[in-house]
Amino acid sequence: MNSASAQPQAASKNTAPDAFQAALIDIAADTNSTLDRLLPLPPGPEARVVDAMRYAALDGGKRLRPFLAVSSADLFDVPRARSLRVAAAVEMIHCYSLVHDDLPAMDDDDLRRGRPTVHKKYDEATAILAGDALLTEAFAVLADPATHPDGAVRAALVAELARASGWAGMVGGQMIDLMAATLDLNDDGLKRLQNMKTGCIIAVSCRMGAVLGGQSPATVELLGAYGMDMGLAFQIADDVLDVSSTAAETGKATGKDAAAGKATFVDRLGLTGARNLAQSLAEQACKRLESFGNKADLLRAAAMFAITRRN
Ligand code: IPE
Ligand code: IPE
Ligand code: MG
Ligand code: MG
Ligand code: MG
Repeated sequence: MNSASAQPQAASKNTAPDAFQAALIDIAADTNSTLDRLLPLPPGPEARVVDAMRYAALDGGKRLRPFLAVSSADLFDVPRARSLRVAAAVEMIHCYSLVHDDLPAMDDDDLRRGRPTVHKKYDEATAILAGDALLTEAFAVLADPATHPDGAVRAALVAELARASGWAGMVGGQMIDLMAATLDLNDDGLKRLQNMKTGCIIAVSCRMGAVLGGQSPATVELLGAYGMDMGLAFQIADDVLDVSSTAAETGKATGKDAAAGKATFVDRLGLTGARNLAQSLAEQACKRLESFGNKADLLRAAAMFAITRRN
């Protein structure tokens, strides 16, 4: 199911939704060709795992994280040849997280991006290995001099993505997500869970754009704060779609979170309350971009897309 065709119902007042859609489609296409080049099929029998990696990473997905990496880097006139490699690396991490998230031991899902999940198409062992290899390949891409000529910048990118992906970020959030039914989390605990499992990867996409652009730690933090706000809004919107949309529209099973005992703001605040919270987080994300002026209009539109998307 191609995602980039989803129509946002609203965007920033300065950027028409179609301008944002066009940019999203453009960056998605360039990300696809970058991933295609970075994941060639080898000749030996290990081709099976690479085939599964390609199945997981190509042909589908909204490519929001690549969009954020490239658009953040664009603020600082970073050459696209560099930002698209960072975009591909973060999308590899995201796709790995989805492959593992769908496994029977986790959310046990059969449908992803409108197609069978990797463990359904191949088998569980192959899905585990394909996720592992996407995870490691992401760092090989960042460490390659083609990503940036300065080794210190490459090391900073590796450190950023590692921290956002691991126990203090996405993996840690996934751990809490699986334990949530037994933890009795308060609202701050739930916010922390969702920031970790989803916000960290979205935030680091923006942060890496600033790192590529040689920006100060304060600017890296500023774009990261925008990303964390929109990342939380994005996850709340995902939880809203779980109860308000269909598999035909989202390309994945819906109506599962409550039965699985997932902790969500929909469960706590109801649909309207969750939608209002996502809206105010998206607005807060946009406010963080004030110092960039009109140059950040596409990022503002992305924050609104995060909460108005239909898949
Ligand atoms: C799904 O992410 C997982 C969440 C963090 C909610 P996306 O909604 O970005 O999935 P794709 O990449 O477009 O398939
Ligand atoms: C997934 O959250 C977040 C990840 C780190 C993969 P969900 O479990 O809600 O994502 P979907 O709904 O399966 O895409
Ligand atoms: Mg999950
Ligand atoms: Mg899931
Ligand atoms: Mg979900």
